[in-house]
Amino acid sequence: MSLINPEDNFKEIKSTLLNVLNRAGNDSHSAFRFIILNTISDGYPNSRYVVLRKFKIDTQELFIYTDSRSNKIKELKENPLVSVLAYDEQKKCQIKLKGKISIHHQDQVAKEHWGTLLGGKESYNTQGQPGKKVNSLEDANQIKNEYDDKYFAVLALEVRQAEVLQLNKDGHIRILFDFEKDRASYLVP
Ligand SMILES: Cc1cc2nc3c(=O)[nH]c(=O)nc-3n(C[C@H](O)[C@H](O)[C@H](O)COP(=O)(O)O)c2cc1C
Repeated sequence: MSLINPEDNFKEIKSTLLNVLNRAGNDSHSAFRFIILNTISDGYPNSRYVVLRKFKIDTQELFIYTDSRSNKIKELKENPLVSVLAYDEQKKCQIKLKGKISIHHQDQVAKEHWGTLLGGKESYNTQGQPGKKVNSLEDANQIKNEYDDKYFAVLALEVRQAEVLQLNKDGHIRILFDFEKDRASYLVP
């Protein structure tokens, strides 16, 4: 079954879109749980999968967790404008988001998110910084004895634009939402 149908109006589609992103933040089985975060690195697009940890419907903010020493942080400090891509294979629906990221590290927002984190704290507690070249796999996986939030960072994406593409055998449905101008438009797929 499709996520979006030809008879749905823009208001209904926007609501579906926001709800599906919200659900991805609460449901680890959601197809939109793993998203591709695209930044710019030395002029080249740089992509990697990340987990969609939370999506706030009212503010259209999306949250990602990462290590403050990772390359993406350096890239985001240089250019906080990003795009995010996700695809639900079963529903044949692609979502692309564009917006601006704010980095939260050792502040109130980071502390609140760290407090809700149940597992996976080792991801932010490697001895070496992510991406550093090492001599062995063992060296690569050295974890600190005690976990803390020293390198835990929260990326808060203020979503400014969303584009959905619903594949449909009777004609694909492609729509661009501009959240800043509160406008929507069909696009030629
Ligand atoms: C399914 C999947 C989920 C991932 N989730 C995260 C994540 O939530 N945060 C993160 O920093 N890296 C995550 N990673 C690892 C990143 O893809 C990436 O390898 C790492 O963050 C280093 O990226 P960078 O060097 O561009 O900063 C995930 C990888 C996969 C395959």
